[in-house]
Amino acid sequence: MKTLVFAVIAAFAINLGAAVDPHEHNKVVCYWNSTSFERPGPGKFQVEDLRPAASLCTHLIYGFAGINADSHEAIPLNPNLDTGAGYAFYKFVTQLKRTFPDLKVYLSIGGNADPDSETHKYLTLTETQEARSKFIQSVVRLLTEYEFDGVDLAWEFPQVKVKKNRSTWGKIWHTIKKPFVSKFKDEKEEEHRNGFTNLVRDLKAQLRTRNKALTLTVLPHVNASVYYDARLIAPNLDAVHLMTFDQVTPERNPKEADFPAPIYESYNRVPQDNVDASVRYWLEHGTPGGKIVVGIPAFARTWKLTSDSAISGVPPIVTDGPGAEGPHTTTPGLLSYGEVCARLTESSVGRLRRVGDPSKKYGSYAYQPYNSDTGADGIWVGYEDPDTAGNKASYAKAKGLGGVAIYDLSTDDFRGTCTGDKFPIVRAAKLKL
Ligand SMILES: *[C@@H]1O[C@H](CO)[C@@H](O)[C@H](O)[C@H]1NC(C)=O
Ligand SMILES: *[C@@H]1O[C@H](CO)[C@@H](O)[C@H](O)[C@H]1NC(C)=O
Ligand SMILES: *[C@@H]1O[C@H](CO)[C@@H](O)[C@H](O)[C@H]1NC(C)=O
Repeated sequence: MKTLVFAVIAAFAINLGAAVDPHEHNKVVCYWNSTSFERPGPGKFQVEDLRPAASLCTHLIYGFAGINADSHEAIPLNPNLDTGAGYAFYKFVTQLKRTFPDLKVYLSIGGNADPDSETHKYLTLTETQEARSKFIQSVVRLLTEYEFDGVDLAWEFPQVKVKKNRSTWGKIWHTIKKPFVSKFKDEKEEEHRNGFTNLVRDLKAQLRTRNKALTLTVLPHVNASVYYDARLIAPNLDAVHLMTFDQVTPERNPKEADFPAPIYESYNRVPQDNVDASVRYWLEHGTPGGKIVVGIPAFARTWKLTSDSAISGVPPIVTDGPGAEGPHTTTPGLLSYGEVCARLTESSVGRLRRVGDPSKKYGSYAYQPYNSDTGADGIWVGYEDPDTAGNKASYAKAKGLGGVAIYDLSTDDFRGTCTGDKFPIVRAAKLKL
């Protein structure tokens, strides 16, 4: 009887053309940083490497397009790779749908991939009807030409200043070194918030008739209450992807390492800097649970340990800037899960001591202390592993949310070097939804 009623309701909904989300609570959204194609050696991620993920992910998000500051149009950021005759990744990626017909492929705009020096264009675009219309027309053209199923706005709003809980960490921190602070103060916050609300409304109106989706990616350190009028924009969005990670980073917090992506607040930390606080914000401001998607980083954040760092490794811990770069990602302060995993299992000198997370609240870390005999720097690594990614998916499920968003496929173990399984983080998260 139940199934019959359901079938009738489903048929009715389809007849009405209403959007029935087949993945209301089990979205596995996978971002792909397409520039990872340019990494050296085994770090190089090719379009073909997406295939094993395409059967795990419900949504694939192509990162990233940008905007042209003068014309306000959405544009490829790597024309050679994205749309050029040689590579044509936009086309190749949407063609995956031939093999994986249920996969939805979206193009994301912004994502901090568009150069910092030009981010004011993300604000000016919201200010006038004319600029917004040009942007909307260009998005519709790109989606149509390359057959994307939707667009994701990873809007580059200004970031909040580094906030420290000084109740115990006191003044010492304040005086050591001024952390990176954006000097920019947005004098037109309200205008930008309202402009963005209008942009979302008008863009959705154009996409709805073309049966294309509109999602939002909330980047780390963007103050949601300043820039997103959740109540007004949520009805026009298919999903809100919360990038609930990078709460601390080696760039923003060079002198102190801590859990980069905890689910819950831990003792003496800034109360807003965790997954649960972000999720509650969107829920409390009227966003349906099924539209809220929890971001999970596949990459680790790393800091350098020195003779001043506590030997215990317990965070928060004194550090001296970003940890040494990895062989594949070649970025100081960042390691892919594959790179972390190699150093956890290694028997030789570079081996990290792993500290798991039995509380299921804060995440894993691993470290190699400073070596007082040789004077060699140590490293502290805050990372996600299949267990902690699974914990986040379980959290999303328990709260009735929309699912998880993995950032990004190129920093998961896409070659399966850890245990033989490709994309172990995506896999583990999916299993718990
Ligand atoms: C994407 O990968 C490239 C190449 O490693 C890197 O330089 C860039 O910072 C990454 N971009 C994002 C937005 O993660
Ligand atoms: C975000 O903005 C609100 C409203 O202006 C403010 O009360 C809050 O302190 C801000 N949060 C952060 C982390 O800066
Ligand atoms: C500092 O941490 C304490 C304990 O977790 C918390 O009660 C307090 O609100 C925090 N203060 C700030 C400014 O975040």
